[in-house]
Amino acid sequence: MGAGPRVPAHQVTTRNLGAAYPLMAEAGLGHRGVLIGHDLLGGSFVYDPFELYAQGVVSNPNMIVFGQIGRGKSAFVKTYLWRQSVFGRRAWVVDPKGEYAALARAWGVRPVALRPGGAVRLNPLDPGPTPLAAATGTADADRRQVELLASLACACLGRNLAPRERVALDLALSAVGSTAVVPTLPAVVDALLEPSTDAARRIRTDRATLLEDGRDVALELRRLVHGDLRGMFDGPTTPGLDLSGPLVVLDLSALYNSTALGVLMACATAWLQAALARQAHEGHGGHVLVVVDEAWAILANLGVARWLQASWKLSRAYGVANVAVLHRLSDLHAVGAAGSEQVGLAEGLLSDSETRVVYAQPPGEVARASELLSLSATEAELLSQLRRGVALWKVGHRAFLVQHLVGPSERGLVDTDGAMGPER
Ligand SMILES: Nc1ncnc2c1ncn2[C@@H]1O[C@H](COP(=O)(O)OP(=O)(O)OP(=O)(O)O)[C@@H](O)[C@H]1O
Ligand SMILES: [Mg+2]
Repeated sequence: MGAGPRVPAHQVTTRNLGAAYPLMAEAGLGHRGVLIGHDLLGGSFVYDPFELYAQGVVSNPNMIVFGQIGRGKSAFVKTYLWRQSVFGRRAWVVDPKGEYAALARAWGVRPVALRPGGAVRLNPLDPGPTPLAAATGTADADRRQVELLASLACACLGRNLAPRERVALDLALSAVGSTAVVPTLPAVVDALLEPSTDAARRIRTDRATLLEDGRDVALELRRLVHGDLRGMFDGPTTPGLDLSGPLVVLDLSALYNSTALGVLMACATAWLQAALARQAHEGHGGHVLVVVDEAWAILANLGVARWLQASWKLSRAYGVANVAVLHRLSDLHAVGAAGSEQVGLAEGLLSDSETRVVYAQPPGEVARASELLSLSATEAELLSQLRRGVALWKVGHRAFLVQHLVGPSERGLVDTDGAMGPER
């Protein structure tokens, strides 16, 4: 019954498959890099941002990972970092949920835990190396600090700064810079609340007017100094932090539910970027992966999102590949009317992240995702059906469907379902 000729399954290499079915099957990204998992159209999927950048496959090494809750975004990132360590790559992680402790343990390091009134303080105004600022086209190292302060103030105020507020901030920072070796947030707040006659004279005004100009900004920044967030970013960086290890994790979980999470993450990321830039400048650089997990909290605010985008552009200069983890495309909040700054920002962040790893998206997000990521109709249709651990990878102009594999020895690194197991 049914005894027809037995035709053996057709087997070809992925390269030949790609030639036979152009636009449907890909020949892979080569074998240099770390194994991510199965390419569901055949073979293994191997990826390395620095290698692909060197080969010109991508024009930047940054990555954005999108996906609904629990689809395996963080699991992928953790194993990816762990596997990269084989090649001596280092990683710095902003960890808002405090879930990278197992990875840190495996790597033999302790996360740097930030909490209000805790033992560790990071100064987001720590300078990067001045020659780097010059090399990257920034007028001076102060610009980075002004931009960061303006973004933080803008995020806290929930609006753009008026020109007079920006000037007040600028003058306060230079007043602090003329007295302190490294500016701190409390010093900037004090300078805003007590402007000098000299500063006022520089913009042909009087002290009372300059004080008025900067008052709202000062009061908002003061929250980081005296409010519920005190003790984390409001002074010189705690001496003796060991940043020489292969992995640095900034654990922000003590404030995961705070409304200021985005601002805190921006401070942590700013501090981390300046520290990395200094290391690179001192010759301890090498390739580093910088992960901002739950990055939606930063991007939900236009001010800090703008700053994050600008800082991503700089990081290429010192060998950093950024990884941002988001839930939905609409986390680029921002995404607003056609032609608006928000849309430009979303598109800018995407074009600065030429690797996009997209886990399952809710049906309501598919149209936006396919527009922003230029997906084909087939790719768009897949998006709401992807199962846990499977993602659509867009690398430059190429697309792959990848099942991320977690090895038995890696399970302990990635399990975030602990509380979902059977009750004892
Ligand atoms: N490829 C995979 N194979 C097996 N298990 C996986 C895989 N990916 C994720 N998991 C498991 O699924 C659970 C959720 O994964 P993970 O924490 O990475 O999700 P997430 O997308 O980061 O979620 P959230 O948005 O809540 O941060 C984890 O317990 C993890 O062990
Ligand atoms: Mg996660």
